[in-house]
Amino acid sequence: MSGSIHVQPIAGALGAELSGVDLSEPLSDAQFSEIHHAFLTHQVIFFRDQSALTPDKQKAFAQRFGTLNVHPYVSGMPGHPELLEIIKEPHDKLNFGGGWHSDMSFQETPALGSVLYALEVPPYGGDTLFASQAAAYEALSDGMKTLLEGLNAIHSARREYSARGASAQDRQSMSAKTAEDAPEFEHPVVRTHPDTGRKGLYVNPAFTLRFSGMTRQESRPLLSFLFEHSRDERFTCRFRWTEHAVAFWDNRCCWHYALNDYPGYRRHMRRATINGDRPV
Ligand code: SIN
Repeated sequence: MSGSIHVQPIAGALGAELSGVDLSEPLSDAQFSEIHHAFLTHQVIFFRDQSALTPDKQKAFAQRFGTLNVHPYVSGMPGHPELLEIIKEPHDKLNFGGGWHSDMSFQETPALGSVLYALEVPPYGGDTLFASQAAAYEALSDGMKTLLEGLNAIHSARREYSARGASAQDRQSMSAKTAEDAPEFEHPVVRTHPDTGRKGLYVNPAFTLRFSGMTRQESRPLLSFLFEHSRDERFTCRFRWTEHAVAFWDNRCCWHYALNDYPGYRRHMRRATINGDRPV
């Protein structure tokens, strides 16, 4: 039904909770366009009580927005290589996604979006934070915007997914492959969103190694400033998970961070990642 989906923003810079739609049912064109509009406007959208979202239905929903990614370093679910099971067992110390990042920025064509579904949530904690990189860019001075305009940065999975990298070690409960020889890809530091035309910062602490044409040491001061600036509270929202909730975020313009504050409890999520374009 057209106009049937209610949209409730949860913070100033980004994030909105949507209600009035069952994502396990095929979306009508009108529903798709309302959800797409909310996604582009709010950068991350949330749905609660999606208890019928089987793996096939989660994939079908995500596929309305693009083709699905198969992660090169983390094994997918048996029978569903495009779905990642993100599980933290009660005894696990580290968690997947426990640092600010944008999914798959280490690929030549990074992710458009990710659809994360909660199967089991701890009684407290385990929230996910999001940060609008469009708002972070817009808050910079004109001088800094001009400086960044011509810069590119090098992204790679090497640091996170090498044998000693955080993302490989955090995976006792997931099958992770290591990435000692992961390739490097260059992306603009400021990218223009292909659908909205809005500019946003496109570097992140997990996968951005340095600026193109500079050493890591030379890059560090400005990258450190951008990483600090980009997670300022003004640009963030926080989602409190409930069982069968869904978050759908736009990796082209926001970062996310899975909090690790629920020792002794299990958290089980399932993610579909949608392929995107080469950033420009
Ligand atoms: C992720 O980084 O995709 C995981 C986010 C989460 O588990 O909250």
